[in-house]
Amino acid sequence: MGIKACRIYVQFGPYAAPIRPPRGKNELEIDILKQAKQTSLIAILAVAMAPYLAAQAAGQAAQAGGSNGAGGQVSAGNALFQQNCAFCHGRDAMGGETGPDLTQSRLVRSDSTGQQIAAVVREGRPDNKMPAFNFSAQQIDELVGFLRARIAAAQPGGRRGVEPSDLQTGNVAAGMEYFNGAGGCSKCHSPSGDLAGIATRYQGLQLEERMLYPKNAKSTVTVTLPSGETFSGTLAYRDEFTVALRDGDGRYRSWPTDEVKYKVDSPVDAHVDLFSKYTDDDIHNLMAYLQTLR
Ligand code: HEC
Ligand code: HEC
Repeated sequence: MGIKACRIYVQFGPYAAPIRPPRGKNELEIDILKQAKQTSLIAILAVAMAPYLAAQAAGQAAQAGGSNGAGGQVSAGNALFQQNCAFCHGRDAMGGETGPDLTQSRLVRSDSTGQQIAAVVREGRPDNKMPAFNFSAQQIDELVGFLRARIAAAQPGGRRGVEPSDLQTGNVAAGMEYFNGAGGCSKCHSPSGDLAGIATRYQGLQLEERMLYPKNAKSTVTVTLPSGETFSGTLAYRDEFTVALRDGDGRYRSWPTDEVKYKVDSPVDAHVDLFSKYTDDDIHNLMAYLQTLR
């Protein structure tokens, strides 16, 4: 087996970092309203007066859009989302190959403060259906801003995911170089060992999904009670409130996260860390290379 290393992290209580107090309710909406007012004013001016005035005003509006919080927040959130979430939830957050449509999610729609979204992003969902992301409060705000903008823009019925043709554009030699070099894949994998024949086992998007989010790897967890007693086993469930394991005898045990300390050892975390570092080219090149491992 080529698996040698894994990352360990310790978590106390529900959050990795304190959550910033919620932004003023719907700051985004207010900003959009402001912009809308400005725009209609510009329209009236443009009709009533000379066209050059409109051009000037449009320039000012563009400037304002770039520097006021919401515009910048949404575009930063867009960048974060495209890099970390779009693979599963779709580029427009309307659902992808493996993740649900977030614009229709009751949780996302009803989360006026952004705290529930923050919890899902920081904790992930169990069984590696969704990995946990260690984002700052500001990054979470940006993501929430982006999701709100997507909800506002969402039209029903338009599902888009990753295009299979995206997978055929890579360069094999560059992918191999990345695998052995910058990507650090060869620290844990070997093309003639555990990854031999990987392209026969999985094809296309399925292979890309395996690469980005391996699902087989089981996380283990050690829970320490206030008394000092410890329990270890396979991580069976984890969200912001509950941590649960299945012990060696197959018994299920669970605890409230704020009453115990626990340590999760998750070999897949290395993959999630890598994911924020890949460029699209890296992924395409890696895919081209992995597709030669038959
Ligand atoms: C590996 C695929 C994957 C990635 C990457 C991913 N998610 Fe998810 N996400 C899921 C799945 C699957 C679910 C549904 C899990 C469930 O049903 O328990 C989900 C659920 C959610 C939910 C809760 C929706 C609900 O109604 O319960 C939110 C919010 C969310 N994801 C946001 C994000 C954000 C933001 C990112 C990027 C930082 C992200 N996800 C990255 C797969 C993913
Ligand atoms: C720190 C160790 C580590 C690093 C670095 C790492 N991986 Fe992994 N990888 C794993 C573990 C653990 C698994 C889960 C093994 C399993 O699913 O059986 C895995 C699974 C995979 C799988 C799915 C294998 C299967 O049979 O389903 C692929 C493909 C893969 N990794 C590719 C890569 C690539 C490409 C890189 C570099 C960009 C990389 N890995 C970097 C540890 C690592």
